[in-house]
Amino acid sequence: MKVLVTGGTGFIGSHTCVELINNGHDVIIVDNLSNSSREVLNRIAKITGSIPKFYKDDLLDNEALDSIFEENKIDSVIHFAGYKAVGESVEKPLMYYQNNVIATLNLLDKMVKYNVKRLVFSSSATVYGDPDMVPIVETSRLQPTNPYGNTKLVIEDILRDVAYADHQWQIALLRYFNPIGAHSSGLIGETPNGIPNNLLPYIAQVATGKREELRVWGNDYPTIDGTGVRDYIHVVDLAVGHLKALKYIDNHPGIEAFNLGRGVGYSVLQVVQAFEKATGQKIPYQIMDRRPGDIATCFADTKKAKDLLNFEAIYDIEQMCSDLWNFYKNNPEGIKE
Ligand code: UD1
Repeated sequence: MKVLVTGGTGFIGSHTCVELINNGHDVIIVDNLSNSSREVLNRIAKITGSIPKFYKDDLLDNEALDSIFEENKIDSVIHFAGYKAVGESVEKPLMYYQNNVIATLNLLDKMVKYNVKRLVFSSSATVYGDPDMVPIVETSRLQPTNPYGNTKLVIEDILRDVAYADHQWQIALLRYFNPIGAHSSGLIGETPNGIPNNLLPYIAQVATGKREELRVWGNDYPTIDGTGVRDYIHVVDLAVGHLKALKYIDNHPGIEAFNLGRGVGYSVLQVVQAFEKATGQKIPYQIMDRRPGDIATCFADTKKAKDLLNFEAIYDIEQMCSDLWNFYKNNPEGIKE
């Protein structure tokens, strides 16, 4: 199958391209490289033996999109491209709506124009906001708490309307929980710019000596040890989930949302412990006040993905930590050109 992957040089996108290529798909990447590097293409080639066709273009560029669809007989689209920093989205909401929502509308316009109606969309558990109960089922209330989350929900709503209006569409909305880890080769992984917001990139930078200690945002939540609990999932598992979703939509017209998580919650301190055990690195930490906007506990009900997609995450938290560490050791400055 010829698959257009938007944002294919990013963290989840690059791992998904590897799985696609390894499973015989023909991959075309479009990415504006705003938060990734061209070198990722070489890394994908090293892992798979094949370099994906690449367009350095922005989804806001209509002419560029026309060329991509004209030059390639695309069967399906996996749409990752978008901004994803919660704090930044609070400061620059218009930039987020422009880049995430308008860009998606452009992409959908072209998909209609070129009659490509299979889409896997990169959504997020962030659409659930502060959940009413855990584990979170797909039918839970959708109530994001920041502009980034709102853009994901707006796009989900657009796609629901599109699928309702035209029954030929085949769409999967994948709501990721907390993707971490890296490819076992150590060649691709996550390299955030600046000070990381997310837990695992921060821990990895403490381990490399780039940061002095981890700041744990609050230990007074109603959880096992008072620190926040999340559902961490290995990025390779997540990538495999996209292939399963592609397969599913192939013979299921309409639209369906799926949680992609492990269904297991780990507290911040449990993650620190797992990282220390998996890597032998000591992670000093200090307890701080709660981070505004954080929730206590979030983990997935994974039944729907298991029943309909036949998807089950296989890597445990220690594997996630050791693969992440392997990547960081090999790429202390990230993946540069
Ligand atoms: C965050 C985003 C979410 C996004 C996800 C991507 C917020 C409110 N939510 O989720 O929308 O989809 O990242 O992976 O930002 N922690 C520390 N110290 C740190 C960093 C994190 O103690 O330096 C704690 C947090 O308080 C939380 C846990 O670690 O309990 C996980 O945090 P993080 O990795 O930022 O993910 P989320 O908050 O779940």
